[in-house]
Amino acid sequence: MTAHNEAKVGEIAPNILLPGDPLRAKFIADNYLENVKQYNSVRNMFGFTGTYKGVPVSVQGTGMGIPSISIYVHELLANYGCKNLIRIGSAGAIHEEIKVREIILGTAASTTSGVNKDRFNGLDFAPAADFDLALAAAQSAEELGFALRKGTILSSDIFYDDNPKFYEKWAKYGVLAVEMEAAGLYTLAAKHRARALTLVTVSDHIVTGESTSAEERQNTFTQMMEIALESLVK
Ligand code: ADE
Repeated sequence: MTAHNEAKVGEIAPNILLPGDPLRAKFIADNYLENVKQYNSVRNMFGFTGTYKGVPVSVQGTGMGIPSISIYVHELLANYGCKNLIRIGSAGAIHEEIKVREIILGTAASTTSGVNKDRFNGLDFAPAADFDLALAAAQSAEELGFALRKGTILSSDIFYDDNPKFYEKWAKYGVLAVEMEAAGLYTLAAKHRARALTLVTVSDHIVTGESTSAEERQNTFTQMMEIALESLVK
């Protein structure tokens, strides 16, 4: 048991999916896992363990932003021994060539967050996805017949930016989309010698202003969950 998680050691699987939204954690447990047990409801940040194709898999909500995901991921790594962690979330596209509803595999995450500046005393750490987990996801997407874009993403601390053109410099350097957690996840996984990956579905387009309804998003979210689950049991 930790400050934010009431699970006993052993109740959380080494393989874990990390949606930001705790209700999405419940959706995954209800629709994809068998023999499900809910292990956490502290702050309604639900966590479940079950099996997928016979392999134990957990799914834990993380909340939004690097500070929130860092609390849950730190405890999963330091207290519960999680080894393979895949964040599944949404992102805003910042590149013209990216379309809404695409799924992106975040190979590395730049960040505007002060968290790593603090952690590394002003120096720059390079938060990157685990190569083997990324390869497993690329293979899983291909086997499932789902398109998967690979590239770098931005983990921002600000959802409502004062500068409407904040994305231009990042886009110029090839960053595909903005979300709010991957850099925190990748950094902590590196510290604890665990493997981490981020998959995001593009929910809105910051350049064109296009967005998707929750209903439209569901289909690609489902594809993203299937890619993530298959990658964990490969
Ligand atoms: N997640 C989904 N859309 C986003 C956006 N526009 N900025 C940051 N995170 C997001």
